[in-house]
Amino acid sequence: MRLFSELIADQKQGSLAVEISGRVVVVTGAANGIGKALAERFAREGAAHVGVSDLDEAGAKAVAASIGANASGHRCDVSKEEDIRALVAATEMAAGKPVDIFVSNAGIADIDPDLSNAGSSPDPIWDRAWKVNVMSHVYAARAMIPGFKTRGEGWFVNVVSAAGLLTQVGSAVYSTTKHAALGFAESLAISHRDDGIRVSVICPQAVDTQMARAGNFAGADVDGILSPEQIADAAVEGVKAGKFMITPHEKVYEYFNNKAQAYDRWVGGMAKFRRSVWDALSKARSSLAAH
Ligand SMILES: NC(=O)c1ccc[n+]([C@@H]2O[C@H](COP(=O)([O-])OP(=O)(O)OC[C@H]3O[C@@H](n4cnc5c(N)ncnc54)[C@H](O)[C@@H]3O)[C@@H](O)[C@H]2O)c1
Repeated sequence: MRLFSELIADQKQGSLAVEISGRVVVVTGAANGIGKALAERFAREGAAHVGVSDLDEAGAKAVAASIGANASGHRCDVSKEEDIRALVAATEMAAGKPVDIFVSNAGIADIDPDLSNAGSSPDPIWDRAWKVNVMSHVYAARAMIPGFKTRGEGWFVNVVSAAGLLTQVGSAVYSTTKHAALGFAESLAISHRDDGIRVSVICPQAVDTQMARAGNFAGADVDGILSPEQIADAAVEGVKAGKFMITPHEKVYEYFNNKAQAYDRWVGGMAKFRRSVWDALSKARSSLAAH
């Protein structure tokens, strides 16, 4: 019998590359921040059509209008499966052909209400983050997999976070749901590679958007803050190259390697890091409480 390690070594990366030009793309949470930059970048890459969607319908339509005739704007609450199905149908109607690339970007972040208790977020906060950060990816998979299988190709691009590989100090809800999102993406990639379906996950640290400015990511800027456009560039280049894991901040993969090699030591190091950002965390907590 062959060893598992031999089977893994058999994988060849060459055939995973993706041509974006002429593809129909959907992006969720695209009225602002990373999603907006992704929608614009996919359009510049020559996508045949970009379905720009957000909870904020006017914002989505404004981004689509600024992209031009090859984009349409739609309201979609990603926590609702029926909204995701309707988004796919509306984009396909506007594009006149099926969606090839589904970008699950919308996400939410909450800081722990009591920083001295990692379990302090109430159930409704956990439930909402579970739906938006995790189930939205499951709903997209359910909507897209049958068609992707029939056509023998299709791409999921899931915006996760470095918090899904490492951990965001001060936000147990965000860290846990982003780990779950990464777990689901692994299942998708492994289960459907033989169907011609490809998956990329984007795992940035701090990015200059409303989410980061709200103060939810104290300490995440330790390796610098990238712009949404830099994330979109890294994402598109990674997708085109057929990469599963895309880490726009170079240090993230190094930290992930350190974690894998010495997990206990890594937990100790993160606890030390938390002590060092405690003041920033507390300040973020009080500024949120003041609003
Ligand atoms: N900003 C960062 O530092 C950072 C770092 C790593 C990962 N991320 C991830 O990147 C993604 C985008 O974040 P961002 O920083 O651009 O945030 P953002 O808050 O600037 O934009 C998020 C967009 O998602 C929309 N949205 C929120 N809930 C939604 C819902 N239920 N359905 C549809 N749309 C919804 C909002 O209206 C908004 O337009 C998220 O998944 C986030 O977790 C962000």
